[in-house]
Amino acid sequence: MKKKIAVIAGDGIGPEIVGEAVKVLTKIAGRFGHEFLFDEKLVGGAAYDVFGDCLPEDTLAACQSADAVLLGAVGGPKWDSLPGPQRPEKRALLTLRKELGLFANLRPAKVWSPLRGASPLKDEIVGDGIDLLVVRELTGGVYFGEHTRSEDGLSALDKMPYSTMEIERIARVAFESARQRSNRVTCVDKANVLETSRLWREVVQRVHDDEYAQTELDFMYVDNAAMQLVRAPSRFDVILTENMFGDILSDEASQITGSIGMLPSSSLRADGFGMYEPIHGSAPDIAGKGIANPLATILSAAMMLRHSFRLDAEADAIEAAVGRVLAGGMRTMDLGGNASCMEMGAAVVDAI
Ligand code: IPM
Ligand code: MG
Repeated sequence: MKKKIAVIAGDGIGPEIVGEAVKVLTKIAGRFGHEFLFDEKLVGGAAYDVFGDCLPEDTLAACQSADAVLLGAVGGPKWDSLPGPQRPEKRALLTLRKELGLFANLRPAKVWSPLRGASPLKDEIVGDGIDLLVVRELTGGVYFGEHTRSEDGLSALDKMPYSTMEIERIARVAFESARQRSNRVTCVDKANVLETSRLWREVVQRVHDDEYAQTELDFMYVDNAAMQLVRAPSRFDVILTENMFGDILSDEASQITGSIGMLPSSSLRADGFGMYEPIHGSAPDIAGKGIANPLATILSAAMMLRHSFRLDAEADAIEAAVGRVLAGGMRTMDLGGNASCMEMGAAVVDAI
């Protein structure tokens, strides 16, 4: 199989962790007889410093013409003072999501058995393990509603729009994902307060009844969900939720697994095209030190193989290699060890 992958490493630890993921993909290509062409482009603050734009036309075009996108992270203190719309988070990340039509954000959170001890939760709460998937709507809601300030500057308004079509398509992604897992979906909302949440409930229930009646569905308020995630995390299989709730709950879900340095994500379009990135940020405090954990990015590359290229055996090979390396005891600093980013990447390459 021949595929073009746009590689946008971005800022902070982005280049270090993406470098290791590219080595892993290269190893997979060699072992399984594929050809991956890596089209490397600047994005985020790194692009701003060169072109005065966090998402240059050339970078967007490369992403649009690729078969998939591998992203590191964007942003950092150096660019925090840019006006809102020009900031790396908004101009690069949110624009990429919108322009590429990536409405479905899949964030799996699981405890790798060798890392059980890293979870801050008590053993009896972790139980048989935590293995859940946050399906976050990514191109709607308050992130993309109107943001305005009154003329006198004393009041502000952020709108949170959702259409039936946007809810239907993300609900289908959640139900389809659940079928590959334990077949349970929890729709998380704030239907006791928000009209958008009431629409979510109606639409999700209808999609369920019409198309996925075999899947277990329940609804939960977001404040309760935040509590249940630390109280009884194994009750969740698939969490289906809108953009901002998904942002918040996925950080919480990552933390209960032990390290945010382990969690991959995919942002998908209906046709399977996707952008893959770790859920952690650019970590400017440790950037350039070579101590970042590349596993979230390596696991994101595995998600790319599975979701965009339908290369399941290759994705399994990466995940199994990560499992073996962890079982062998190698740990980066976030996991309490002292392996470097490159050592961890090399160990995974060797284990494939
Ligand atoms: C994420 C991040 C982004 C988001 C930020 C950087 C805009 O927190 O991908 O979860 O809120 O979506
Ligand atoms: Mg976030």
